[in-house]
Formats: sequence, structure tokens, C-alpha cells
Amino acid sequence: MKDNIDLLNDFNKNINEYITDVMENYSIGKNAKVITHGCQMNEHDSEKIEWLLEKMGYTLVEDIEDSDFVVLNTCSIRHSAEDKVYGQLGNLKPLKKRNPKLKVAVCGCMMQRNESREYVIDNFKNVDIIFGTNNIWKLPELIVRNYSTKELAIDIEETQEKFDDYLGANRLYSYKSYVNIMYGCNNFCTYCIVPFTRGREDSRNPEDILLEIKNLAKNGTKEITLLGQNVNSYGKTLNHPISFSDLLYKINDIDGIERIRFMTSHPKDISDELMYAFKDLDKLCNFLHLPIQSGSSRILNLMNRKYTKEDYLEKIYKIRNINPNIAISTDLMIGFPSESEEDFLETIDLVKKVEYDTAFTFIYSIREGTIAGRSKEQVPDKVKHERFEKLLDVLYPIQLKKNSEFIGKKCKVLVDDFSKNNKDYLSGRTEEFKLVNFKGTKEQIGNIVDVNITSANTFSLKGEIIE
Ligand code: 5AD
Ligand code: SF4
Repeated sequence: MKDNIDLLNDFNKNINEYITDVMENYSIGKNAKVITHGCQMNEHDSEKIEWLLEKMGYTLVEDIEDSDFVVLNTCSIRHSAEDKVYGQLGNLKPLKKRNPKLKVAVCGCMMQRNESREYVIDNFKNVDIIFGTNNIWKLPELIVRNYSTKELAIDIEETQEKFDDYLGANRLYSYKSYVNIMYGCNNFCTYCIVPFTRGREDSRNPEDILLEIKNLAKNGTKEITLLGQNVNSYGKTLNHPISFSDLLYKINDIDGIERIRFMTSHPKDISDELMYAFKDLDKLCNFLHLPIQSGSSRILNLMNRKYTKEDYLEKIYKIRNINPNIAISTDLMIGFPSESEEDFLETIDLVKKVEYDTAFTFIYSIREGTIAGRSKEQVPDKVKHERFEKLLDVLYPIQLKKNSEFIGKKCKVLVDDFSKNNKDYLSGRTEEFKLVNFKGTKEQIGNIVDVNITSANTFSLKGEIIE
């Protein structure tokens, strides 16, 4: 632990030296904006980037038109995510003409993929800095390098030591925070680009994680979300291996933390201990995200998921038996290569059997470099879209039914903010991750309050606060 604190101190000293260098030697615009695409990992990385930028003397601004430094934190998971970034880079060209001081940095998963990075370098000469998913900490040095050489500054090297762990984060909320517990993925699902962009599985030391959470709790964090591509295999690569459920029990003991969530679990690795943790641990929220992807065992095999539909259902029944109140969500992918109408109907059947509280639904997108991307049996777009619509027609009534079961219940809600659609209402999340809207006051933001649920629709609940 001492080594890490020394490392952090050295690191901060280095940043300060860089900052002095940049600020004294170059005339730079001081307004910065970070634009984030993709998952919670990226959101948390952007919190670190913002922290670093503020440390360097930048002021974070809302409007891209006002900024002198734009960072695009990118996602590669689907083709559409990459297209959005290319569109934004195109839009930045006229902005750079209007503000010659404007610097553009691109980071995140796309920059770890040779194809996308080279495409950016070849087609967007307005990009000044490129860094990878492990090199956030190098940003000050890259800025200095770009100013002094006037050339594109790149760093996408993977280092053994995860220096990014020692950065602070400009947390979006003071009362709920993301905490990385592991990086990368070893699963190589045949459709997925993540093992290529985020590298191999690597767990953080439990001591570092617990210290970070204790510090967050001291500063007012009530809810933490533990992040990893496959949290169920947490700890396997450590010198002194510990299991994910052991880690949860330790976190549950931390004073001040009231809620624990995690993302994402792989069904093949979910252990009995973890299922019992949902019963034993008072702070572990009654919510499990367990991505199935497809209800066809044939497709699951082609996806290299290492479980069948039956294995998955058995786990669902088991966990519901242990904790009948648990809310369950999933990821569903439509149109994986060679998916037949029969395979699709098996997905529909599974959705009806499980009755998910909510599901993230995706249309399969070819990712170059993956096994499925090379398949000759791609499903036509029209068929994919038709199946997708049919899936939503089944999912939404189930979602409504599950939400309606909350009417008349009293729920604990962590208040987030005023509702986006109606400023008279506050919104927050129950333990089951249900979005609830209710009338309240600004002072209640960040508190956990009791709410009586009065009505439900497909995507949210409505309620009345109990004073
Ligand atoms: N096409 C569509 N969806 C994908 N996902 C991952 N790769 C792809 C792809 N190539 C989805 C999976 C995963 C979620 C994070 O994104 O459902 O669980
Ligand atoms: Fe991708 Fe599969 Fe790893 Fe999830 S478990 S990140 S879907 S390879």
C-alpha cells in the first residue's frame, strides 16, 4: 500500500511539473469539454480525464462552441458508436477554423483498434492528441508534446502498472460513485471487440479498492457501483486470489456506504456464494444484471458464451429462490450470424419465462477482427429489424407488468436530481434500479427517502414521498 501512495505522490508531482511547463511556455486556451460515448467504464474514465484537466488549470465548459480543448472518449462496441465519433470529428473541423487555438484529443476503445485509429489519423487532420484506454495519466505529457512539436501526439501503449488507478475523478455525483475493480476481459465472445480494446483480465488489489471506497464514504458517497467487464471472475489473477463475493462482504462492512451495485456479470461465472450474498448483505441492492444475449443454445455456443439456455434458466430460478425480491435485467442481441426464426423464437420464449424487469436490446453489428464478423451467414438487415421490433413488443408489456407490481409498495429511493421531463418532480432509483418520479425539494437530492409508489408505466414509476 505504501508503494502505491508513494507512486501517487510522485505522479502528482509530475503532473504539477508538466502543468507549469505548459502554462508558462505556451499560450493555450483554457476551456475544456469532454464528450463521452459508451459504457460506465468510459463514463468513469471521463471523470478521471476531467479531474486531470481541472488539475492542469482548464475550466470545464458545457458548450462545445466555448471550448479550446475537446476530448472525445470513444466506444467501439457497435458500428453505430464509431460512426457517431466520425460525425463529431467532422463537425469539429469548422470549429477549429473559427478557433485556431482549439485542440482535439481522441481516446477510449476506438483508439485501441488499429483500423479505427488509422482511419482517424488518415481522415481527420484536426486531431492533435490520441491516447489509449490505459494512458489517461499521460495526458499532461501528451499536451506538452503536441504544443512543442506541433505534431500529432500518440500514446496507446499498454503498461503493466495501471497508473490510471491513482488518478482522482471529477465525480458526476457526490453521493454515488463508480469504482473500477478490474479491467479487460478473457472471454472472447465471438461477436465482441472488448477483449481487443481493453486487453486481458486484470484485477485491482482488494486493499486499493477498499481504501478508495472508504475515502469515498468519508466524502459523502452513499452508493457505489463496482465496475468490470466480468466481475464474477474478479480476483483470479491476483497474487493472493480472493473471490468477488469475498470482496462484497468486505465492502458491506464499510461505514457510510449504504448501497452496493455492480456491472457486469457473466452467467457462466456466477457462483452460489454470490447468490447468497444477495440474501446476506444488507447493502447489496436487489438488482442483478445478467446478460443472456440469446435464448438459443445453438447460438450461445456459436457466441462462445459457455452456457446453455437451460444452464441460464437454472441460475435464474436458483437466485430467485434465494432472494424472491431480486430484480433482473439482461442484454439481448438480435441477428447474430446464422440466427434462424427458430433461434429467435427461443429468445422470445426465454424472455417470457424469465420475465425481465428490464433489458438492453441490441442489433448485432459486425466487428472486424472478431470470429462472428468473418461469418458468411450474416442475417439481412431487414430481418434483424423486424425481429428487433417483435422482441420489444414482447419485452415492454412484461416490463410494465413487473413495474406495476410495485404499486402500493413503499420503496427507498436515492434521489438523483429533478426529473428531465418535468422540473416539478424529483427522480431517483429504488434498490431494484427502478426509476421513480415524485414531488420533492432540492434539499432531498442525494438523500435516500421513502416513497409510496402510486402508478407505473413501462420505463418508470410514480410515487409520493413519505415525509
Ligand atoms: N453487436 C451488437 N451488440 C453487441 N454487444 C457486444 N458486442 C456487440 C456487437 N458486435 C452487446 C452485448 C453486450 C453489450 C454490452 O453490448 O449484448 O452484453
Ligand atoms: Fe465482450 Fe463477452 Fe467479454 Fe462481455 S464477456 S466484454 S461480451 S467478450
